[in-house]
Amino acid sequence: MPVPFDPPVVLAPMAGITNRAFRRLCRESALASGARGTGMYVSEMVTSRALVERSEESLDLVTFGPDESPRAVQLYGVAPGTVAAAVRLLVDEDRADHIDLNFGCPVPKVTRKGGGSALPWKRDLFRSIVHEAIRAADGRVPVSVKMRKGIDDDHLTYLDAGRAAAEEGVAWVALHGRTAAQMYAGTADWDAIARLKEALTPLDTPVLGNGDIWTAHDAMRMVAHTGCDGVVVGRGCLGRPWLFGQLAAGFHGEPIPRDPGLATVLATLRRHAQLLVDDYGELKGCRDIRKHMAWYLKGFSVRQQVRQSLGTVATLAELDELLVQIDADQEFNVEVGEGPRGRTSGNRRPSLPDGWLDSCDLDGEAAALVAAAEINVSGG
Ligand SMILES: Cc1cc2nc3c(=O)[nH]c(=O)nc-3n(C[C@H](O)[C@H](O)[C@H](O)COP(=O)(O)O)c2cc1C
Repeated sequence: MPVPFDPPVVLAPMAGITNRAFRRLCRESALASGARGTGMYVSEMVTSRALVERSEESLDLVTFGPDESPRAVQLYGVAPGTVAAAVRLLVDEDRADHIDLNFGCPVPKVTRKGGGSALPWKRDLFRSIVHEAIRAADGRVPVSVKMRKGIDDDHLTYLDAGRAAAEEGVAWVALHGRTAAQMYAGTADWDAIARLKEALTPLDTPVLGNGDIWTAHDAMRMVAHTGCDGVVVGRGCLGRPWLFGQLAAGFHGEPIPRDPGLATVLATLRRHAQLLVDDYGELKGCRDIRKHMAWYLKGFSVRQQVRQSLGTVATLAELDELLVQIDADQEFNVEVGEGPRGRTSGNRRPSLPDGWLDSCDLDGEAAALVAAAEINVSGG
């Protein structure tokens, strides 16, 4: 069964990044390339409890732009009932066209309580969350899961969890080919994606591959290597939203456009800042764009003092004054610019509740801990 959107490309949910402005920019980049379809762009993760409690912040996270389609929400949750209630809220209030469940978060404050990437180890709990979410969606909105390979190399969960999710009827399973212990270190294990694809083929459940797609060619290579049905792209598009145009071209068998020169990159950065300011107001919008500066300018020659000032920019006028000081007549530095960006390290023993790995079943003590993991968290 193919994934129900074209091209089969998903902007990975990224807390602090994939807000309305960034999603729009990525979608516009795909459209500008003449793409027939634009794929799917997932929201930042929202905590199911906060959503059920209708916190202002969480409701904002599930508010989409007027022309966003499909509206894809990523939910984090550890309690089946709360996740189901959050799904019902999204469906009953017509706030989403797709719901993705996060089982990949490696952040210590989450795994320490048995949430995120630690959760699939408790097989019944994992299945129960997926089951209740799908039941709450009631066929009105598809539900997918996103996960890592497991806790560490000795405690892999993806094949069991993938099968369970497929049996429960998820729309697809997305696999980031790293364990929680790896965080973002090393390279993503594409062989694991191939193994999951093989395991889920008899169940007719699509598999999306995730991890270390820095270029459209990488995406093509991942599909060829793993047989996966589509790709999920995260860090590769940081400061490079036009990657979605390149991916669309690649999947449609068209020539892949080159990365643009600095003049276009700066215009894209400026548009990104404008979209953020339009949405959040000048102060918050300018604060948000600061973290994107180094990504946009990666591989270009820009005076240190200008780079530094861009990192503290507070108004669009200030931004404009700085951008004109940059020599925009520079080609994209393919070697540097198409390499890894964003978080690239980690490698530590995951924090887990005491005795977590002793059993795949959820005993009373562990259940209480997991319930406490239903907190406001961000990251994946
Ligand atoms: C800044 C940042 C925030 C992230 N937030 C989330 C998140 O909220 N939910 C999630 O499932 N994954 C999250 N992730 C993980 C990405 O979705 C993706 O799985 C990971 O970056 C690997 O893909 P990549 O190699 O294409 O970046 C985050 C990653 C980064 C770098």
